Amino acid sequence: MCGIIGAVAQRNVEAILVAGLKRLEYRGYDSAGLALIDAQEEIVRARVEGKVDLLAAQLKQHPLHGHTGIAHTRWATHGAPSEKNAHPHMSGSDFALVHNGIIENYSELREELIKLGYVFNSQTDTEVIVHLLAEQYKGSKDLLTAVKQTIERLHGAFALAILYRPEPQHIIAVRKGSPLVIGLGIEENFLASDQLALLPVTQEFIYLEEGDIADLHADKVLIYDAHGKSVERKIQHSDLQHQSVERGAYRHFMLKEIFEQPIAISNTLEGRIINSQVPDEIFGVHASKTFEKIKQVQIVACGTSYHAGLVARYWLESMARIPCRVEVASEIRYRNPVVQAGTLFVTLSQSGETADTLAALREAKKTGYAATLAICNVPQSSLVRESDLVLLTRAGPEIGVASTKAFTTQLVALLLLTIVLGRRHGLTNEKVLLSELQQLPRLLEETLTLAKPIEKLAEQFVLKNNSLFLGRGAQYPIALEGALKLKEISYIHAEAYPAGELKHGPLALIDEDMPVIAIAPNDDLLEKLKSNLQEVRARGGKLFVFADAIVAIEKHPDIQIITVPSVSAVIASIVYTIPMQLLAYYVAYLKGTDIDKPRNLAKSVTVE
Ligand code: F6R
Repeated sequence: MCGIIGAVAQRNVEAILVAGLKRLEYRGYDSAGLALIDAQEEIVRARVEGKVDLLAAQLKQHPLHGHTGIAHTRWATHGAPSEKNAHPHMSGSDFALVHNGIIENYSELREELIKLGYVFNSQTDTEVIVHLLAEQYKGSKDLLTAVKQTIERLHGAFALAILYRPEPQHIIAVRKGSPLVIGLGIEENFLASDQLALLPVTQEFIYLEEGDIADLHADKVLIYDAHGKSVERKIQHSDLQHQSVERGAYRHFMLKEIFEQPIAISNTLEGRIINSQVPDEIFGVHASKTFEKIKQVQIVACGTSYHAGLVARYWLESMARIPCRVEVASEIRYRNPVVQAGTLFVTLSQSGETADTLAALREAKKTGYAATLAICNVPQSSLVRESDLVLLTRAGPEIGVASTKAFTTQLVALLLLTIVLGRRHGLTNEKVLLSELQQLPRLLEETLTLAKPIEKLAEQFVLKNNSLFLGRGAQYPIALEGALKLKEISYIHAEAYPAGELKHGPLALIDEDMPVIAIAPNDDLLEKLKSNLQEVRARGGKLFVFADAIVAIEKHPDIQIITVPSVSAVIASIVYTIPMQLLAYYVAYLKGTDIDKPRNLAKSVTVE
């Protein structure tokens, strides 16, 4: 989704802005641009449809200079991807603005401004903001006041960075619903949609709160809260090194992140198992008191994180014996669900900034849940800050748009939750589960050795247009996740079904052009799954079965078996995710798609 970066310094900031945009690329975008106030005190601007590299090439030919500047990667919402719609947008020659988010009342404001004589050069909602700001400035003649008056009239969620030509010494930034972080340098200050963009220039950050307005100068940062009161916000040091968001020897971030899963999971577990027990306190200091009153769980998330929730439902109900419901955030937020007493509201999110998940959490806080818990990868995210309890997944920065290590670390976190809630409801095998969890990093290392055979297998998928993924029980969500991974990065249509449902419709699709991928660990439903696979075989389907070595699958030219290390039924969901990720990766690689930034998608979905 859109990315913002800004800088006020004693040096030319063009290169810093372009480098920052490169580091924001992972969020997903379709055009890019930047504006600086130059030595003649003019706003100079460059914009392109397409990649940041194109912008960089243009700037190489026609460099821009300035000590104060803002830049942006745009992910189209209002108006197609084009140079005209790319940010920064300007009003006259005095105001330039970049924006992340959506302005819901933009069409009425646009009409109002057209009547006042403003001419629109784009189809974006953003251009409304910059003209409105120019209009407000006419009255107050004070930039900060004009910004406050402008945002009072905007409905929606947004983050803004603003340049005003006559005042080249500063940038005004606004955070209302979309994330924005200030980076503090020495005699220079920065802002960005996320800290990863600023790691090469600073490790000291201020995370703006909802409604904050920041006035950034090279030597100071002034912050005003939603009521206009001057406030101090905590400076936080980040230990992240900028190399941690580099690709290293891997061809793609996605592949690097798939291979990082053993270490990511070790990090998730570190300090979370003490004396063969999971202490309640890993979820927060008041977690014990909260967990005592929990009678059921409502999980809410989007996309891949939602699939992690679906796996957890099997665990929470079958092992912890706690009723659990799972729903996508974009639905529950508008559904007005019945909330039963003693329900724990759990959000799952890599970014912690997903607009739907955040809105669902805010809605939940008004509707009688016993407590809210965020399982999240980004410590400073809005989701973490706004939840009662938190468990960080510690997967490290995830740059590939397709989520991989965030998912498996969420599963580990959810198993820890199952254990702490379950021991209050009769779960007795805590020690066994913990010892299995501790073996996971090694088992995942072993599973990753399947990369080579799966790369070979992927050749059989490259020319296919459709595919079907099957699983049963807690492997059904893994089938859903395998299908999501394949479709989002290879653009092959992929569907997932609980295998028992095949005969109720999808069997009609089976022919030799429809590869069927089955997840077959050695669990209670294996024999049932095998019968379902027979149904596919009998109709000429081509089967690719990911199975435990001890699972006897019929030998047949139309059945290819990929042997996965032997694991218990519980952790099978985590282990079998790896071959699904590898399959999607290698199919996409052979098809030559833009794996880390697949078309039409964004990493952090900060708009509804
Ligand atoms: C798929 C993917 C998305 C995200 C979804 C939620 O590979 O990455 O489906 O899982 O947009 O994002 P988070 O987890 O950041 O809330």
